[in-house]
Amino acid sequence: MRKNIVAGNWKMNKNLQEGIALAKELNEILVADKPNCDVVICTPFIHLASVTPLVDATVIGVGAENCADKVSGAYTGEVSAEMISSTGAKYVILGHSERRAYYHETFEILKEKVKLALANGLTPIFCIGEVLEEREAGKQNEVVYAQLAGSLYDLSAEDFSKIILAYEPVWAIGTGKTATAEQAQEIHAYIRSTIAEKYGKEVAENTSILYGGSCKPSNAKELFANQDVDGGLIGGAALKVADFKGIIDAFK
Ligand code: PGA
Repeated sequence: MRKNIVAGNWKMNKNLQEGIALAKELNEILVADKPNCDVVICTPFIHLASVTPLVDATVIGVGAENCADKVSGAYTGEVSAEMISSTGAKYVILGHSERRAYYHETFEILKEKVKLALANGLTPIFCIGEVLEEREAGKQNEVVYAQLAGSLYDLSAEDFSKIILAYEPVWAIGTGKTATAEQAQEIHAYIRSTIAEKYGKEVAENTSILYGGSCKPSNAKELFANQDVDGGLIGGAALKVADFKGIIDAFK
């Protein structure tokens, strides 16, 4: 059975003290009122080593927002998957549309990052999704297929099974515009069908596919109620405990 997951993506927000306070507050609330889904917080690199020991690992998993596409060495400013893993973090977001657009991460670069994350025991939360012009041209399925095939479909079935997918239409990220529940279900079902074709029905049925893009307490329940939507990747609403908890409670 696949897992339901609500994952927060803090992006480049919160200094160390603010991040620690946010993680502590969330931890207290979730320890007192256990979630009915897996909860993950993905924080800036600088927070990982402080936040990981602060949270109850049975309630909150911690992850990074990116990792290097190289093992180690002379890559000034980069952070390796092994370094992330050494903080106790268990997840890493890869292929976020902001990384693809602003830092020119290609299918090939992402393929390397995924391999290194897996080799270091991290669970990739791999993001895919189309931009507005592609949606308007009806090309969303083609786009997500190319992203999956370009970076993931060379993996063995065993490795692919370790990946969490996040479908995030770029036009819905941080815009307040959410995909409708029907739009989300339609493309999630398509994504699952392509996994089934590549890796078989069992792997497809066991893959968690999260929705991301202006997800909030008021729309989470309707989105997550869809058969092929297994939770969310949450940006803005993950920065406030009440909002993030409201989304987690969509599974209650
Ligand atoms: P948002 O971001 O919830 O602020 O739209 C989602 C994301 O980029 O992961």
